[in-house]
Amino acid sequence: MTPNDHDVIPVIDFGSQTAQLIARRLREAGVFSVLIAPEMPAAEVAALKPKGIVLSGGPASVDEPGAPQLDPDLLRLGVPVLGICYGMQAACRALGARVERAARREFGRATLNVADHTSILKNLPETTSVWMSHGDQVDHLADAKLRPIAATSTCPYAAVESDDPDARFFGVQFHPEVTHTPHGVDIIHQFVYAICGCAGDWRMADFADEAIARIREQVGAKHVICGLSGGVDSSVAAALLHKAIGDQLHCVFVDTGLLRKNERQLVESTFRDHFGADLTVADAESRFLEALAGVTDPQEKRRRIGHLFIDVFDEAAKSIPDAAFLAQGTLYPDVIESGHSAAGKAAGIKLHHNVGGLPERMKLALLEPLRDLFKDEVRKLGEVLGVPDQIVWRHPFPGPGLAVRCLGEVNRPSLDVLREADEILLEEIVAAELYRRTSQVFAVILPVRSVGVMGDGRTYDQVIAIRAVETQDFMTADWARIPFDVLARISNRIINEVRGVNRVVYDISSKPPATIEWE
Ligand code: XMP
Repeated sequence: MTPNDHDVIPVIDFGSQTAQLIARRLREAGVFSVLIAPEMPAAEVAALKPKGIVLSGGPASVDEPGAPQLDPDLLRLGVPVLGICYGMQAACRALGARVERAARREFGRATLNVADHTSILKNLPETTSVWMSHGDQVDHLADAKLRPIAATSTCPYAAVESDDPDARFFGVQFHPEVTHTPHGVDIIHQFVYAICGCAGDWRMADFADEAIARIREQVGAKHVICGLSGGVDSSVAAALLHKAIGDQLHCVFVDTGLLRKNERQLVESTFRDHFGADLTVADAESRFLEALAGVTDPQEKRRRIGHLFIDVFDEAAKSIPDAAFLAQGTLYPDVIESGHSAAGKAAGIKLHHNVGGLPERMKLALLEPLRDLFKDEVRKLGEVLGVPDQIVWRHPFPGPGLAVRCLGEVNRPSLDVLREADEILLEEIVAAELYRRTSQVFAVILPVRSVGVMGDGRTYDQVIAIRAVETQDFMTADWARIPFDVLARISNRIINEVRGVNRVVYDISSKPPATIEWE
């Protein structure tokens, strides 16, 4: 990313679970932000020309062996610094204050009494609720040029400000980035606009323009292959690349025969007809069904699908002449998870890590135009680029597709039944305006038959399970409380309209201990 024309506030990531959230809050305030490892020397951070710096929280104690260290020079770069929780403690200690284990570990809501409304706490009431999560705290300011500006009943230095003109520092022991701190956004805005003097003009449309310029520069006259899956990430990456390099982009879509109803048509109409992009569709249904014949073990299904997918993709890619790059829809959370904080050597503002890998044999360079974005930002970018809502707001779909939703052996008749049932389910969920309020909704076909009665006759037909979940991160999930009347409509329609199904059941298991998918 080239944030040269925009204000940047990096977040030094001391390992807090909310470090990403801080970066998001800053971006939401119209300021570009990235996470940076604490090992990055202050001189390199200065090279980013930041307007301010935020120090995140973290799970360690500042004096513990191996605790992440704050480079004290960061406090003297001449830009304001906001320390949150561990970040506050590390900075206060560097400025001469003492940090000790608190008498009582504090976790949850606390009442903050604001003593000074002149700077970072300007827009706060006298008392307000804040979210605390700490074992240590600053307990003595000693000779540090710091003064308290807010306290709670157990934390006398819940917020401090430095009086040293050479080290403009603000510290908060609580977490302004979480929604449990109702005035947290006011604190962040006060820091960003009033204290750091940011214009707040970073917008997704700017990102698109800058990304397009950067892609053109990187790709030159060469050609790029982009695998489309029908999901939001690869679709937005392809739309962005197409805008940047037009005919030099070659999209490849593998029809595995394990897709939902009309999925291939949606990809074709969006990319070929709407965007006018070069799209190769590899028709590989029979190869995938052959490879899956007789296989019932979920991991074996995944293994066979994974291998064949690479073969088919590779064959399709070979027909594209002069390709030098393979584009992937890697997102920022993947980049962070791949371990940026261990390396943290940002070249400029980008953190270069090869995420996800690339089939060695393709010998193509990797292009990851979305690697600086969070998922919700990818959706915004998709909207800016005119990607249809149906794709932008799509629920995730697993790589092995319907093969892991067709329990037991996968075959065409079961897949067809599943596709019909799944389509009805999604139609009803959309009609009930529940699609955006759920994280993932799908049908599963079970490998058993059940007895039913239809007219005067006995039936012995298939069973469809409905899965609908709500989740933030897909690591844990709760089953969605779909209203009974919506479930009733879904069940009636599936049983009446899909031949071969006489029973519909609703999955009421949360993750853990269940998983989202059934296989
Ligand atoms: P589970 O079933 O593990 O699913 O709770 C969590 C999320 O991951 C998706 N999922 C997969 N995605 N390949 C994928 O690309 C897979 O093999 C796979 N298995 C599960 C699942 O749909 C959910 O969003």
